[in-house]
Amino acid sequence: MSNTYNIAVIPGDGTGPEVVAEGMKALDAASVRFGFRLNYTKYDFGGERYLKTGETLPESAVDEFKRHHAIYLGAIGHPEVKPGILETGILLKARFALDQYINLRPVRLYPNVETPIKDKQPEDIDFVVIRENTGGIYTGHGGSTRVGTQDEIATQLMVYDRRTVDRCLRYAFDLKKKRNGRDKRYADKPITLVHKRNVLLHCGDLWYRAFEEMGGSDYPEIKRDYNHVDAANMWFVKNPEWFDVVVTENLFGDIITDLGAMIQGGLGVAAGGNINPEGVSMFEPMGGSAPKYKGKNVINPMAAIGAAMMMLDTLGETEASQAIESAMVSVMKKMKSQAAGNMGFTTTEIGDMVASNI
Ligand code: IPM
Ligand code: MN
Repeated sequence: MSNTYNIAVIPGDGTGPEVVAEGMKALDAASVRFGFRLNYTKYDFGGERYLKTGETLPESAVDEFKRHHAIYLGAIGHPEVKPGILETGILLKARFALDQYINLRPVRLYPNVETPIKDKQPEDIDFVVIRENTGGIYTGHGGSTRVGTQDEIATQLMVYDRRTVDRCLRYAFDLKKKRNGRDKRYADKPITLVHKRNVLLHCGDLWYRAFEEMGGSDYPEIKRDYNHVDAANMWFVKNPEWFDVVVTENLFGDIITDLGAMIQGGLGVAAGGNINPEGVSMFEPMGGSAPKYKGKNVINPMAAIGAAMMMLDTLGETEASQAIESAMVSVMKKMKSQAAGNMGFTTTEIGDMVASNI
């Protein structure tokens, strides 16, 4: 009996549709080889649709997403739409409405991929960041008064409750336990909580106590470490080999994962998953819509293919996911660079090569 997965596909804006098409080639090749079925439903949410209809992500679409096994997203962002509308209206709305409380962002340097950090090798850069994805400043609490006057006040609150912190930490500790079992090199490293508890006395304390309590009582065999977020930035660059699983709150996670993306070779390769472990998750390349490359067949689809790989892993198709990763690695070895326009191949050629390697 073969499994069937219903995948909602949102190609989105700019180069989103181009990279999603290549990711789907990899998914299709994996489904043939490993004997499962993928049913895609395409949705045209994004900047174009918003400009035509004023619609971002309607409730009806959220309900339809709930009947899918996963969502595969290209990129959202349009030069003619004011910043904030599509981000909050589509991306953040999906994350919140589907309670995708984990943002999983692997930071892994693959062979033959260039990192801007001198002398670092693939074995030095191989960790994951777990960014809490539904709380903090992203909840939108706060407001403005006396707008437009010299006395204008704006507040934006970092909001966390114990349950939200605990469920994120639980995921992080469980993932760390899995990685420790997989490889001794991981087991020697700690799980690292990143915050700013020397200044954010309330939220920092909540996260720190929850981390210490859960680690101490339920995962005593796992080493624990703590970094202030500013220092974590430093260590990501200077000693990335110290890290294995990093867990942090939403905004800090947003910031440090862009740094993570750069040290693993850039937005051409960085992928992420917005995960609801009990529900519907959404996978995306971390890069944006890159409008200047749109339609030129020069954008790197590796990040989108990596997102597809993560999606299959989350769906439980572990072998298929690993096959995609191996195929990515062998194609990356042939590429000149991971930068758009300088890959030595076109977007579609790379997608074809990955698919045929699967
Ligand atoms: C990301 C992006 C989003 C975020 C934006 C586009 C809302 O930067 O996925 O990291 O801040 O989470
Ligand atoms: Mn970001």
